[in-house]
Amino acid sequence: MALLDLKNLSIEYKLSDGKLKAVDDVSLTIDNGDILGLVGESGCGKSTLIKGIINLLPSNGKVTEGEVVFNDEVLNKLSVEDMRKKRWKEISLITQSAMNSLNPVYKVGKQIIEPMIEHDKTPKDEAMKKAEQLFELVGLEKGRLQDYPHQYSGGMKQRAIIAMSLALDPKLIIADEPTTALDVIVQSQILERINMLLNQYDGSMILVTHDISVVAQTCTKVAVMYGGKIIEYGDVNQVLKRPNHPYTMGLKNAFPSLVGDKKELISIEGTPPDLSKEIIGCRFAERCPFVQGKCRKGEIKKTSVKNGYFYCARAEERDELMKQADIPSTWESN
Ligand SMILES: Nc1ncnc2c1ncn2[C@@H]1O[C@H](COP(=O)(O)OP(=O)(O)OP(=O)(O)O)[C@@H](O)[C@H]1O
Ligand SMILES: [Mg+2]
Repeated sequence: MALLDLKNLSIEYKLSDGKLKAVDDVSLTIDNGDILGLVGESGCGKSTLIKGIINLLPSNGKVTEGEVVFNDEVLNKLSVEDMRKKRWKEISLITQSAMNSLNPVYKVGKQIIEPMIEHDKTPKDEAMKKAEQLFELVGLEKGRLQDYPHQYSGGMKQRAIIAMSLALDPKLIIADEPTTALDVIVQSQILERINMLLNQYDGSMILVTHDISVVAQTCTKVAVMYGGKIIEYGDVNQVLKRPNHPYTMGLKNAFPSLVGDKKELISIEGTPPDLSKEIIGCRFAERCPFVQGKCRKGEIKKTSVKNGYFYCARAEERDELMKQADIPSTWESN
């Protein structure tokens, strides 16, 4: 049984003049120990998808189809109260705006040990010891536990939130660009340490990131999202070494590199589709270098591969497209 099983999940937002389909028929599974990288351009639906998983959609957002099954339980049918009980202990969330989620009136240390004492009945001194270890893990001095949030810099707050999210050994951590406030070197260090910790108890993570090189270094699986849909999904080695979808092939140019000297973002030309309009054919067609007439018709069928899938109207010609895309050999050695 998978730890998390998303079954054909669709999510819509109500707009004043219609609706917007932010997540379209998404399926994927996460097993114990998996680290899934969720990548895609701004606005493709990453945050919406994870808010849908954890039942935190804003009032105009709604799961319109499908199920979120976590540990054999359907999460999107749970009450807000039942869902709250699962937070921190079973699923913990680090959001893009996590930095604002520390309570300004309490010392940071108190905020970290409290859930341990409450949920796990951990004695206070033991909880404090664990908080110190977690601070060490994220690169903060343990003396800082006695400070208030306003005494922290933005990057320090972000580290404290990461420490907090790890405090109860959650089965699943969902991290929405958890390290954007930190520089790239620190980013990869912290991710590596989170990974080591998760390894110790077979914990899993969904890591939302813009950066494909972070995925290559950190993740076991990857889901590539484009215009509300996961257009390619599978094992990291498989997808990055042998991408099947032209968008995934193009990512090598669209994402900044962790190594090497070039950090700016070179994007694939064009803009993603308007999600408030019905999409006919492939949603990447407008920007795809390999587009043909058949790409703009009907619904694109899913092609299954080992441990994954992709959506491309020219799936059968994939090897030829890959040759034309000129994937650099450095990808093979990742
Ligand atoms: N509360 C909302 N009401 C209406 N539309 C929304 C709402 N939140 C997000 N959207 C729209 O849903 C789509 C997906 O947004 P989402 O925030 O999930 O993208 P994202 O991939 O997380 O982007 P980013 O990388 O910038 O964080 C976008 O078109 C966005 O404008
Ligand atoms: Mg987001």
